[in-house]
Amino acid sequence: MYSTAFLDLPPLQAAAGEVHLPGSKSISNRVLLLAALSSGTTTVHDLLASDDTRVMLDALRQIGCVVDESGGSTVRITGLGGSTPLSPAKLFMGNAGTAMRPLTAALALLGGEFELSGVPRMHERPIGDLVDALRQLGCQIDYLGNDGYPPLHIAHGQGVPALALAAPIRVRGDVSSQFLTALLMALPLAAVHQPVVIEVVGELISKPYISITLQLLARFGIAVEHQNWQRFTIAAGSSYQSPGDIHVEADASSASYFIALGAIATSATGQKDAKSGIKIQGVGLDSIQGDIRFVEAARAMGAVITGGPNWLQIERGAWPLQAIDLDCNHIPDAAMTLAVMALYADGTTTLRNIASWRVKETDRIAAMATELRKLGATVEEGADFIRVTPPVRVQDWKPASIHTYDDHRVAMCFSLAAFNPAALPVRIEDPKCVAKTFPDYFEALFSVAQVAAPQIPVICIDGPTASGKGTVAAAVAQRLGYGFLDSGAMYRITALAALRAGLAIDADHEARIATLAQTLPVRFEGGKVWLGSDDVTEAIRTEEAGMNASRVSALPAVRTALVDLQHSFRRLPGLVADGRDMGTVIFPDAPLKVFLTASAACRAERRYKQLISKGFSASIDDLRADLEARDARDSSRSVAPLKPAQEALVLDNSDLTIEQAVEKVLSWWQERQPFAASAQR
Ligand code: DC
Repeated sequence: MYSTAFLDLPPLQAAAGEVHLPGSKSISNRVLLLAALSSGTTTVHDLLASDDTRVMLDALRQIGCVVDESGGSTVRITGLGGSTPLSPAKLFMGNAGTAMRPLTAALALLGGEFELSGVPRMHERPIGDLVDALRQLGCQIDYLGNDGYPPLHIAHGQGVPALALAAPIRVRGDVSSQFLTALLMALPLAAVHQPVVIEVVGELISKPYISITLQLLARFGIAVEHQNWQRFTIAAGSSYQSPGDIHVEADASSASYFIALGAIATSATGQKDAKSGIKIQGVGLDSIQGDIRFVEAARAMGAVITGGPNWLQIERGAWPLQAIDLDCNHIPDAAMTLAVMALYADGTTTLRNIASWRVKETDRIAAMATELRKLGATVEEGADFIRVTPPVRVQDWKPASIHTYDDHRVAMCFSLAAFNPAALPVRIEDPKCVAKTFPDYFEALFSVAQVAAPQIPVICIDGPTASGKGTVAAAVAQRLGYGFLDSGAMYRITALAALRAGLAIDADHEARIATLAQTLPVRFEGGKVWLGSDDVTEAIRTEEAGMNASRVSALPAVRTALVDLQHSFRRLPGLVADGRDMGTVIFPDAPLKVFLTASAACRAERRYKQLISKGFSASIDDLRADLEARDARDSSRSVAPLKPAQEALVLDNSDLTIEQAVEKVLSWWQERQPFAASAQR
C-alpha cells in the first residue's frame, strides 16, 4: 500500500496481464455479520482485508464473537448463536456504512447497551430512516449528535426488547439500500414465532445489493420472499445456520477499474508471445454482485469482454470509446468508473439516476465533476446525474492533482486518467484511501501497466562518502512512494560474492568477477539484502566491505556487468537512485540529479557519532583525514570519478538536518512537476 501524501502516476499507454482481485466488501461484511449471528463456527475464505472489514471484525470481537485471523485471508468466526452480546460496548465504525447500518439493526434487536460512532464523514451519512424503522419496532435508539445521523446510542436494560411485529415494518428505500439490507439481516432474529414483513416506502434503489443480501441470507439458512422488491417476508421459524465454509467472491466494483483498463490501454507489449489484454481472476460473469453488470456498460462503450465462472478477459475494442447515455441505478459504485472512461469517448456521456452518489463516502457527483474538470473535461451535474464531455483537443488536457476526498473509488477510477493522450502525469492525493476496499490497488495497476523505461521518472542522488546521500535518497523515495536503488550496495555485494568465491579483487580477476556480477542472485526484501539464500544486510555494511567495494568498483568490466541489474530497478511509479554514476552512466536521462555534499569536518563528525553510537571507538581527526584522502582518490580516479553530473544541482547539507535536505530535494522535484501549483493544498 502507498501511504505517501500523493502518488504521481507517469503517463501510461499499454497494459496486459493478469490480476487477482481482493474479496468483495459488500459480501465480506455481510458474511461476517451473518456468521456472528449464527451458532457454530464459520470459516470465511478470501475475506477482503480492508479498513471496512477491520472495523467489522473488531466490533464483532468486542460484542463477544470469537474471531480467529491467524489464517491470512481465511478467517474463522464463532457466532453468538442466540446468546446476548457483551455490553456495554463502544464500537467504532470508521467510515464503513456496510458495518454501521447492519450492526445498528442487529444490536438494537439483540439487546444491550451500545454506542456506535465513526469518522466525521460517517457522522454526516444518514441513518434516520433505519432508526425510524427500528423505533417503530420498539427498539430504543438515541442520537448522540445530530438527529438522523450517527453517533448513536442503543439501550435496552434487560434482554431482547419486546417487538411490535404485527404490522409490516416500513422503511424508506430511496436514500440507501443499506437500511433495508440491515433490516433483512437482523430481523430473522425476531422471526421465530411469526413471519416478519418489511415494506419499502418509495422506490427501492440499488436492488442488486438487496439481491446479494438475499442470496447470502439463503446461504445462512434464512428464506426471504419478496413481491416486486416492495414487500419482503422473512419466514417464521427463521434461524441462522452457519454454512461451515463460505468463499467470498472478488469485488466486482474493484473489477471495474481493470475492465476499464482493458478497454482503454493498448496491448502493444513489444515482447514476443506476450499475452494481450487484461485477465481478471476471482470474479466472473455469473457473479452474484450487481456491479458485474458494469460489463454491459463497458461493452457499450467499446470493450471486448469474455468470461467464465471465475474470470473475465478484456481487450480494447472500439477506439475512441463510444459515448453512452445510461441509467446507472443498477451499478451505482462501478458507474464512477464510467465517468472516467467518458474522458476517452467520442462525445458526451450522461450517467443518470445516481442520486445515491451524494450520500456515499463523499458527495461523489460533486467530487467527480470537480476532478474531471481539473483534467480539462466539460462537466454538467445535477441532483441525480452527471454529464461528461472529454477535452476537445489533445492540448486541452490539463495536468491535475486529483483530490480524493477519503474516497477509495475516486482514487482508483482517476488512476485511469494516466492514459490521457497528452501523456501528462496524474497526481493522486492521499493514495492510501484505497485501503477501504483494495489496499494494493496501485501495486496491481503497476503489475499490468507496461511502460517504456524512459517514461519512468528517476531521481539521482550522488555525493562524497558520509554526505548522507543514502539516508536522504531513501527518505525521498519513501516520501514519493518510489523504489530505491542503493547502487553502492551492488558493489558491496559483488565484492562479498567475489571473496566468497575465492577471487582476489584485482585486475587479474576482473573478467571472472564481472561474470559473477552479471548473475548476482541479489534481492532486496523487507529492508534486508539477500545474496541467494544468505542475509548479507550486515556483512556488506562493514568498513572492510566498503573498502572492497571501492576496489571492485574500479574494475570497468564489473561496472559494465552491473548496468542491466541497475536498469531493472527502473519500475513504476518511479525510482530514486543513489550512487556514483547514476546520473552520468546508468540513468543519464534522469529528470533530476542532485549532488549532495557537506564539508569534510561535518562529515567526519557525523561518521564519528555514528561509530560511537554503535560502540566503536574513533577519533574525529583520523576520520577527517581518511575522508579527505578518500575524496581525493575518488575524485581523481579514472573509472567513475566522484564528480557531479553536469546538470546536477549541488546541495551542501553541512548546516541542514536530514529532514531539511529531504525537503529541499522534494521541492526541486515538485518544481519540475506540471501540477506543482495545485499540489500544495
Ligand atoms: O555508497 P557506498 O559507500 O555503499 O559505495 C561503496 C563503494 O562503491 C564506494 O567506494 C563507491 C563505489 N560506488 C561506485 O563506484 N559506483 C556507484 N554507483 C556506487 C558506489
